[in-house]
Amino acid sequence: MGKDVIIACDFASAKDTFAFLDKFTGRKPFVKIGMELFYAEGPSIVRELKARGHKIFLDLKLHDIPNTVKKSMAVLSHLDVDMTNLHAGGTVAMMEAALEGLTRPDGTRPLLIAVTQLTSTSEERMKEDLLINEPIDKVVMHYAENAKKAGLDGVVCSPLEAGKVHDVCGKGFLTVTPGVRFAGGDVGDQSRITTPEGAKAIGSDYIVVGRPITAAADPVAAYERCVAEFVD
Ligand code: C5P
Repeated sequence: MGKDVIIACDFASAKDTFAFLDKFTGRKPFVKIGMELFYAEGPSIVRELKARGHKIFLDLKLHDIPNTVKKSMAVLSHLDVDMTNLHAGGTVAMMEAALEGLTRPDGTRPLLIAVTQLTSTSEERMKEDLLINEPIDKVVMHYAENAKKAGLDGVVCSPLEAGKVHDVCGKGFLTVTPGVRFAGGDVGDQSRITTPEGAKAIGSDYIVVGRPITAAADPVAAYERCVAEFVD
């Protein structure tokens, strides 16, 4: 799969999601379904969006014992999503089990991406709450290497880390990057951000964009601007 813009559909219901996506009468965007929407609507939301022609990143960030994650990933493999994810903090064994569970009998599977350290976790919190005393950059790169070792396809990271992840894990290892804002746009609660053009220059493979598109006066125009800056 090539570079693409993924819209974070952080809506509370299927009704709100469809009302938003109905505006896109041309190109059908790649969409991210997170916990809020999935827990509210269940697997039917995935099937309905798939039937409407969208590619789907199912962002459920699994983290449990390897056997439970493997069985859960096997269930998700039937949903026919294009990308899903887990926490690298669950260990290499958990990631390997996840990959095994996600692989269908015919050998096909969605892309599997690891969350390294959440961008909401500061180095200070990591040290004090989690007792991890290494610098956060080193931890993120180590988790990325673990994900690669387990056979995963890439990591979720800040666009500002995408270049280093490619240096450490290779160009083919995917970087899926939230934290994207238009130049001069509202930053909101994100901190380590860049523009779609900036993410392209650093080498992100997929950008995940929420509010700059979902809260725009003209979401379709905002999406097309992202595609023009990042993909074209
Ligand atoms: O609205 P905004 O563009 O900030 O949305 C970014 C999306 O990416 C949200 O769904 C958010 O939960 C998600 N995300 C993030 N940072 C991470 C992982 C996921 O912003 N490290």
